[in-house]
Amino acid sequence: MTTGLQMSRVNNLYRIGLNVPDLGAAGIFYDSCWAMRPSGSDANELCFRSAESEHSDLLLFGATEASLNHIGFEVDSIDDLNQILRAVDAAGYTVVQHPQNGKRPDELVVAVISDVDGNRVELIVPRRTSNFEEVSSREGPKRIGHVVLWTPQERLTEQERFYSLLGLAVTDRTHIGMSFLRCSLTHHSLALAKNSHQRTGFQHVAYDVGSIDDVMRNLARLKEKGVPCIWGVGRHGPGNNIFSYYRDPAGNVVEYYGDMEVVDRLEVETPVFWGPEHKGDIWGVSGPPPEAFRG
Ligand SMILES: [Fe+2]
Repeated sequence: MTTGLQMSRVNNLYRIGLNVPDLGAAGIFYDSCWAMRPSGSDANELCFRSAESEHSDLLLFGATEASLNHIGFEVDSIDDLNQILRAVDAAGYTVVQHPQNGKRPDELVVAVISDVDGNRVELIVPRRTSNFEEVSSREGPKRIGHVVLWTPQERLTEQERFYSLLGLAVTDRTHIGMSFLRCSLTHHSLALAKNSHQRTGFQHVAYDVGSIDDVMRNLARLKEKGVPCIWGVGRHGPGNNIFSYYRDPAGNVVEYYGDMEVVDRLEVETPVFWGPEHKGDIWGVSGPPPEAFRG
C-alpha cells in the first residue's frame, strides 16, 4: 500500500507472543478470567483471540521464565513486506528471517526482524478467511491495542528511528521518557518506555474492551474472580484512554482500556509533549503508577 508518506508500512499491531513458565496456568487465566477465545494449540503454544479479531492476537509459549517472545505487525501485501525489509536492511538492521510461508492458518507470509534492543519483530501478511465468526460478548477484549517495551535511555531515539522504518510515527512524548507511536488512526499501537537500569523487552500489553462501561464491568468481573486491579481506573493523557491494569499468572502486566483517541490523519506534524504536570492519570484519582511502571 502506498500512502501519503510514499512508503510501505505496517498497518496494525497484529499480535503479541509471550513466554510463560506455566503454560497451563496462563491458558486458564486468558480463557476463564481475561475472556479471550482459545484459537489453537500445540504442545508448546497456546493461541487466543479477541472477540472482534479475525486471528489469534495472543500467542503463549512455554518457557523457563516470563518474557517477550515477539511482537507482530500486520502488513497488507508481500510487496509492502519486501519494501519494508529493504528499508530495514539498508539502514543496517538485522533481517532474521526473509519472507516465508506462514506456519499458522492465519499467516500467508511471515518475515522476522530484530529491533535495536534485540526484540523479535514478526511482520505478517495475513491469510484472509471468509469463515470468520465475530463473537458477540460484553466480556473481555474486542481487539489487541498496544504493546509497551522498555528500552535503555540511550537507545530510545534509535528505537524510534528503527520503528519509523516500519512506518510507525511518534505521536506523543512524555517527560519520563515515553514515546507513543502509531501506524493507524488509533492514537498508539506501540510505546517505548525509557528504563534507567538497561531493562529491555516487555512492559505491558493492552486490549481494547470498548467504552468506560466495559472497562468498569470487566473490572467488577475480574474482582469477582480474584484478579486485583494494580493501577486504575484512570484516564491517560497520551491517547486519552481509560485504563485498568492487572497481572497474569506469569506476572505480565496486562491492560483493559476503553475510549482511546482516534486521530483523523496518519501523518504526525509535531509530536505532543507531556511535561511534569502530567502524572499519568488526568482525572487524578489513581495515584502514581506502581513499581511495575517505574523505569
Ligand atoms: Fe497501556
